[in-house]
Amino acid sequence: MTDAPANEIENLSPEAAKALFLTLEARLAAADLAYHQKDDPVLSDADYDSAKRKYRALADHFPELANSASLLDAVGAPVSSGFEKVQHAVRMLSLGNAFEDQDVADFERSIRKYLGLSADAPLAFTAEPKIDGLSLSLRYENGDLVQAATRGDGSTGENVTANARTIADVPQHIVGAPDVLEVRGEVYMSHTDFAALNERQIERGGKTFANPRNAAAGSLRQLDAEITRSRPLNFFAYSWGDLTEPLAKTQFEAIERLSVLGFTTNPLTQKFATVSEMIAHYRSIEAQRATLGYDIDGVVYKVNDLSLQDRLGFRATTPRWAIAHKFPAELAWTRLEAIDIQVGRTGALSPVARLTPVTVGGVVVSNATLHNEDYIQGRDSKGAAIRDGKEIFPGDWVQIYRAGDVIPKVADVDLSKRPAEATGFSFPITCPECGSPAVREEGDAVRRCSGGVICPAQAVEKLKHFVSRAAFDIDGMGAKQIEQFYNDGWIKQPADIFDIQQNYGSGLQQLKNREGWGEKSANKLFVAITDKKTIPLGRLIFALGIRNVGEVAAKDLALHYQSWTALAQALDTALPAAQAHRAADEAVSEERIHAAQANRRARITETRNSVVAQMAVPDAAQIAWDDLTSIDGIGPTVGLSLSDALSNTAERAAINRLTAVLTIVAPDAPAAESPVSGKTVVFTGTLEKMTRAEAKARAEGLGAKVSGSVSKKTDILVAGPGAGSKEKKAQELGIQILAEDGWLELIEGL
Ligand code: IVH
Repeated sequence: MTDAPANEIENLSPEAAKALFLTLEARLAAADLAYHQKDDPVLSDADYDSAKRKYRALADHFPELANSASLLDAVGAPVSSGFEKVQHAVRMLSLGNAFEDQDVADFERSIRKYLGLSADAPLAFTAEPKIDGLSLSLRYENGDLVQAATRGDGSTGENVTANARTIADVPQHIVGAPDVLEVRGEVYMSHTDFAALNERQIERGGKTFANPRNAAAGSLRQLDAEITRSRPLNFFAYSWGDLTEPLAKTQFEAIERLSVLGFTTNPLTQKFATVSEMIAHYRSIEAQRATLGYDIDGVVYKVNDLSLQDRLGFRATTPRWAIAHKFPAELAWTRLEAIDIQVGRTGALSPVARLTPVTVGGVVVSNATLHNEDYIQGRDSKGAAIRDGKEIFPGDWVQIYRAGDVIPKVADVDLSKRPAEATGFSFPITCPECGSPAVREEGDAVRRCSGGVICPAQAVEKLKHFVSRAAFDIDGMGAKQIEQFYNDGWIKQPADIFDIQQNYGSGLQQLKNREGWGEKSANKLFVAITDKKTIPLGRLIFALGIRNVGEVAAKDLALHYQSWTALAQALDTALPAAQAHRAADEAVSEERIHAAQANRRARITETRNSVVAQMAVPDAAQIAWDDLTSIDGIGPTVGLSLSDALSNTAERAAINRLTAVLTIVAPDAPAAESPVSGKTVVFTGTLEKMTRAEAKARAEGLGAKVSGSVSKKTDILVAGPGAGSKEKKAQELGIQILAEDGWLELIEGL
C-alpha cells in the first residue's frame, strides 16, 4: 500500500477524511459505471486499485465513514494485499532447473542412483511444455469448486476463488472425482489475447503489460472479479495437491484422468523411456515455440510411475522426481554506460552494469550483473579465458541475457563498436563505502570489504536482511526504514531493533514525532517488533546473514541442533577443527594446481592429513566438526562461514546481545508421532532394499537425525552386511542395532 501509508491517513482530521472519502467514492462509482456498463474504463487498473485501497483504508481508520459507505464490498476485511490468505493443504513447490542436455542426463542418473535402479532397468518420464504463467490451485469438494488459491510463498497463497470462477477453462463442477481433489496448473494469456488487451488498454489510456505472464497475473489478482472476467485467461492442469484417493498409477494416466474430468491439459504431453527421446521432444517443442500461441519457457520432465514419485519425495523446495529443462536465455545488445560497485551484506564488492535501457524478452532491463573483476577482464576464477578473453570497458556495446527470473547478465562485448576514448575499468581495492581494504582471498572469485561491522554498507545490508520476509519479517520495517534508522544512529545492530520502543517510545526523541510517522503507526511498529521477540530457530539463524547460510541450511541446522545454545556450543567446541580444516585447505591449494593428475588425490590427502595432525585437534573438536559437516546440505564451506562468524568477537557480541532478548523456538520434528522422530540414526554397511540417500531422506522425513558417526548420542544403528567398526562401537556403547529389515519394520506404513 505504498500509495496510502497508514500514517498519512490517520493524521487526517475527521473533516478532511470525510471530504477525501466522498471524493474517492464518487470517482470509484463513476469508474465502476464506465467499466462495467459502458465497457470503457476511465481509470487505469492501477489507479482504480489505488483509489479503492485508499477508500478502504479511510473506512478502516474512521469507522463513522464505513457506516455510510456505499462501495465497500461484503467480503471480509482485506489483508494487506487485498486478498484473504489461504494455507495450502499440500505445499505448492517449484522445480529444479536443467539448462544443458547433460543436466537432463544427470537428473535421470541421480534418480536411478537414489532408487538403486540399474542403468538398464525401465524408468519412464513424461515431458510437457513449461507454461510461463502463474500457478493456481483449485480445490474441489464433492465435485464442487470451493476454493482457488495462488501459490504465494508455497505454504500460504491468496484466495482468488471469485476470480478463478470467471476463467472458462476452470470447471465449476466435476463428476466422478475423489471427494477432495486439488487440481493444480498454470493460468496464462495467449499471445493474441495479450496483444488485444494491450491495444485496448492503449486506446483507453490504461496501463499496458510488459508480457503475457504479467498480464495474466495482473488480471487474476484483481480485487474486483469483474475485471478478471473481462480479461481472457486460460488454464492448463498439470498436477494436483490434496486428494482423498489417487487419480491413477502414473503421471500420464493422472493427466488423462484430469482431462476426462473436464480440465484442459497440454496436448504436447508425452511419455518417454529414454533421455534421448526426452531431449528430442524438447527440441521439437522448442521448434514449435514461436507458433504455439502462448509463452513457454522450457519443458518439464516428471517420473511417470507415481509410486516412484512417492519414494523420491522432495528436497526443501523442489521435487526429486521432476525437473524443468529451460530454453536458452533471451538476448539483446545495448550500451554499457557505467560500472558501479555495490557492497553486499557479506562485504562482497559486486560490479553492476548501468545500461541504456533495452527490452530483453519483453522486460525492460537497465541494470545487469557483471559478477566480479575477473569476469570484467574476460577470465574465469581459474584464470581461463571467457568470451575469448575479451575485456569489458565502460562505454562498450554489450550483449545482455536473461533466463526466466534470473538477474540479467552481461554476456558478451562487441569490440568493433568500442568508442575510441574508452578505457578499461579499474576495480577498486578499497571499499567504496567505508574505505577499508577490499581483499580477495586465495580461491575466492570475489573481492570483499574487510571492514566487517564498521562498514556502513555491510551493516545496513545485514539489517535489511535481518528484517526481511524470510527472516524476522517485521511489519512496517523495510529497507527504507532501516536506512533511515541506521543513518540517524537509532539502529546499528539487530539487538537495537528490540530496544527501539524503550529508547524512542517516550522521552525527548520519539518515533511518533518523526516525519512520516504518527502515534498509531509507531505503536503498530512497536507491537510488530515485540511480536517477533519469539522467533523460530531456523529464521534466527538465517536472519544473522552469515555468508553461505541460506534459508535451507538454516532450517537444517535448526533441525539438527534444536537450540541456539546447542549450535553455538557446537561451534565453539569445533573451532580448532575448523581452523585445521582451513589450514589444510590452504596447504592443498598448491597441490590442486600443480600436482600431476595421476597422484593429485593422494598428494592432497597426504598434505591434508599432515596439516591436521600438526595442529593436534582435540577429539571433542573433531567430533563436533564432523557432526556439523555431516548434516545433509552442510559441508565444510558452510561450517567455516559459521565458525568465522561466531568466533569474530564483535559479531559474537552482537549475536549474544540479540539472543539474550529473544525467545527462540525449536523446530517441530516433521512427524511427532513417528517412533524415530528426534532420534539419531546411523546407517552403516550395505543396504539392500534402498540406497543410502533414500534411507537418509526417508529417516529425516520421519523426524530422525541422520549422522555419519556413532557416538553416545546415537539412538539406532542400522547395520547392513559388511558393517565394521561402527557396529563394534555401537555394541560397546549399548546402542540399539537393527538390520535393514528391522529398520523397515520399525518405520513401516509411516
Ligand atoms: S509441475 C511439484 N508442470 O513452473 C512440481 N509446473 O518453476 C509442480 N509450471 O511452480 C510443478 N508449467 O508454476 C509443473 N507443466 C508444468 C508447468 C509447471 C509451468 C510452473 C509452475 C511451477 C513453476 C516451477
